Amino acid sequence: MTSPASRAAQLRKEIARHSLAYFAHDDPLIPDADYDALVSELRELERRHPEVGTSESTRVGAPASTVFSPVRHAEAMLSLDNVFDVDELRAWSERVQRSLDPASPLAFVVEPKIDGLALSITYREGILVQGATRGDGRVGEDVTENIRTISNLPQRLSGATGTLEIRGEVFLAKADFERLNDSQRAAGGKLFANPRNAAAGSLRQKDPAVSASRPLSFLAYQLVDLDASLSLRTHHETLERLRSWGFLVAPETRVEDDVSHMVARSTWFEQHRHDFAYEIDGAVVKVDDLASRASLGSTSRAPRWAIARKFPPEERSTRLVSIEVSIGRTGRATPYAVLEPVLVAGSRVAMATLHNEDQVREKDVRPGDLVVVRKAGDVIPEVVGAIVTEGAPRAEPWRFPDTCPECGGDLRRREGESDTYCVNAACPAQQMQKIVHFASRGALDIEGLGEQRVTQLLGEGLIADVADLFRLDARAVAQLEGFGELSASALATAIDAAKSAPLSRILVGLGIRHVGPVAARELARHFRTYDALAGAPLEEIESLEGIGPIIAQSVYEYAREDESRERMARMAAAGVALVEPEGDDTLAATLVGRAVVVTGTVPGYSRDAAVAAVQARGGTSPGSVSAKTYCVVVGDAPGAAKVDKARAAGVPMIAASAFEELLATGTWSATLG
Ligand code: IVH
Repeated sequence: MTSPASRAAQLRKEIARHSLAYFAHDDPLIPDADYDALVSELRELERRHPEVGTSESTRVGAPASTVFSPVRHAEAMLSLDNVFDVDELRAWSERVQRSLDPASPLAFVVEPKIDGLALSITYREGILVQGATRGDGRVGEDVTENIRTISNLPQRLSGATGTLEIRGEVFLAKADFERLNDSQRAAGGKLFANPRNAAAGSLRQKDPAVSASRPLSFLAYQLVDLDASLSLRTHHETLERLRSWGFLVAPETRVEDDVSHMVARSTWFEQHRHDFAYEIDGAVVKVDDLASRASLGSTSRAPRWAIARKFPPEERSTRLVSIEVSIGRTGRATPYAVLEPVLVAGSRVAMATLHNEDQVREKDVRPGDLVVVRKAGDVIPEVVGAIVTEGAPRAEPWRFPDTCPECGGDLRRREGESDTYCVNAACPAQQMQKIVHFASRGALDIEGLGEQRVTQLLGEGLIADVADLFRLDARAVAQLEGFGELSASALATAIDAAKSAPLSRILVGLGIRHVGPVAARELARHFRTYDALAGAPLEEIESLEGIGPIIAQSVYEYAREDESRERMARMAAAGVALVEPEGDDTLAATLVGRAVVVTGTVPGYSRDAAVAAVQARGGTSPGSVSAKTYCVVVGDAPGAAKVDKARAAGVPMIAASAFEELLATGTWSATLG
């Protein structure tokens, strides 16, 4: 067994290596969660074995580089202590409350924890004079020239006197990060691992012109009043002041005056972590009253008056066992990674997609590698890349197979496309996936028909096509292994219910090339019956809103194939309605119980039409904003009162351009800053 002293030495060496890569080179070697794990292991070791001493683990960053001049911070730029769940957060707040006056309950401010990099900006007599990175917390780097080009940074603070330091986070919005990586890819440059690294790399450019070309943003969350020229009493007043000077302050920030609301608000941030225009990796809770803060003070590392509730990491490292290929309903062959199981974002991940041949090549992941796995929100887990240790042996680069792993037929990559397909139309994997898709939630939603059962039914010869589902013999099903009277009859009931499903869902389920839910709905609404659609001339299909020539051609051809004619005739004979009911009842109920306030004009909608669109999805659209409002859609010429109210209440605001997304999905991928 390794002794505590040698484990500590080993950990310190590792941490130092990773700190250098992360802070000085903006190019981390391992996911943040792995780094955090090393640091907490060292801290724990130092706590339990005081003889090993303390050293590296108290650092909050890396020493300043030699490229930029050093700047000594007038007041140290501290880090934050972390908690990882609700109980730890509550325990922290109770400790804080106890050490102050237990009789006067504290108010807390809850903010998003932006995953960017800390910046301190000095203003003298209201004029921006210096920008500095955190560095090691005491001494940072002078990046004044580079930050002058950050477009949302006020250059002057009206009415400000003396010396002020405004602290906050520099970040790249997610959309800006995607755009930056697209242009890096086009130019054959290096891709950034995530928005944080891209922001760090962009800020710490030797050439300010390069920084200027990167769309950095700044969000303020702290004010250091060096000459005590302002008389602020609370953190929320401070934020208001920052906002009045033109700084971006997180609009979702809330003051909560009891512990349970504070905890609930931090959970709200976790639930909405993907709804922000920028990446957040936690919620920060701060004591609101500045005098209480002063009496709480700080340790050498972090203030006692603030805490970060970190969300479960969305990136972890694990071993790549092998790379396999799966066949989808269209025959597309998708490579995927078989992994040593790992907990990512709270769920166990043992497989992750690798998308296509080019992605495997670009990421250069090979069996046996340690790889980074990412799982964000509802998105399926993916392999980000390999963690390669110089000099360590690796397997040969992976090669895409020539034959289908399911049927042995040829796999062919289409000219000019990045996808590879199994070209055997009779491939059993394709048949299986077609039926699974037909039964899936987005289509007919037949509960109890997943991959396993469909494979079984196919294998037993009870079905060969989706149309066979409607003639399935419940008694034969009940005899199958794993089924019983009960589950067979439940399946029969679910299939029976699917017979009256609206035509739009059937069209989705058939998996006609290029026909997604939106096109399916449009086609079904216009033609109302499958027969009308199948008999329609190409021009009529093409003339529909949102149906381009490619979709129209695909639908037209589908309807004329012998196989489809037979399928649809058999479905009709089995009692499938193939009719779209009148009215809007087929709209997805994406906004049930939610109040969406619309202010200003949303292009393409009259006021009434926008309200009706929200109501048609189960929502309400009241005329005023309250704390209960789900979100505010900000159109052209919005009402100032509504916008102010939304900001004050921390209600998310989204652009009119995101209205369609809101209607379709019930959520949004970007809020207005
Ligand atoms: S307050 C003295 N508030 O997280 C307190 N920090 O892990 C200083 N961060 O160094 C920090 N969002 O770079 C604060 N709303 C927020 C933040 C935030 C992101 C960063 C900051 C800090 C790091 C600690």
